[in-house]
Amino acid sequence: MCVIEPSPVVETRRLALRSPQAQDICRLATLANDPDIARMTLRMPHPFSMDDAEEFVLRVAGQDPAKAQTFLIEHEDHGPVGVLGLFEDGDLGPEVGYWIGRPFWGRGYATEALEAGVVWASRNWRRRALVAGHFDDNPASGRVLEKAGFLYTGEVRKGFSRARGEEARTRRMVWLA
Ligand SMILES: CC(C)(COP(=O)(O)OP(=O)(O)OC[C@H]1O[C@@H](n2cnc3c(N)ncnc32)[C@H](O)[C@@H]1OP(=O)(O)O)[C@@H](O)C(=O)NCCC(=O)NCCS
Repeated sequence: MCVIEPSPVVETRRLALRSPQAQDICRLATLANDPDIARMTLRMPHPFSMDDAEEFVLRVAGQDPAKAQTFLIEHEDHGPVGVLGLFEDGDLGPEVGYWIGRPFWGRGYATEALEAGVVWASRNWRRRALVAGHFDDNPASGRVLEKAGFLYTGEVRKGFSRARGEEARTRRMVWLA
């Protein structure tokens, strides 16, 4: 018999973190097609097309749930507002990354989603540390990470940003259970 694992849903005060589905492709492409989002990440392309959104949804569906979990961040009234991903990359702990669509910036959604993602990873993957990094010129993300309990390690790495087409200094942070 074939047992299908239900995809996890994490609920917070205003948000639900759930798997992205085919019906989210158009919304994802609209929100993610923003140079000021892509350039703050390592992997997102810009422009971000419908094909990119479709490829994203398919890639997430194929992830090994023990090693990577990517959530769509859905607001109770506004629908999908962003993405949060956790993945093992051989570091001290799983790495977390996220983005929020521009119309929804400044409302605490990234912090609320990140706090829930951190709890989810520590409970479900039984990990006591998580890592993250933000580019030097992205203090808003540093603030989000601080608000969710991450601390600066002092380490600065070079990271290649696909959308920038060049490396940028990445300030590393850690969260400890
Ligand atoms: C960074 C990002 C995720 C923030 O999302 P958000 O939902 O607006 O975040 P929140 O509302 O939870 O918190 C933002 C915090 O940053 C602060 N902030 C915003 N711009 C800032 C700036 N230029 N300098 C310092 N702090 C800033 C806000 O004041 C707020 O802190 P506060 O609550 O203490 O006032 C969103 O802007 C985004 O998706 N940016 C592009 C992609 C990205 O940077 N992803 C993270 C890669 S590491």
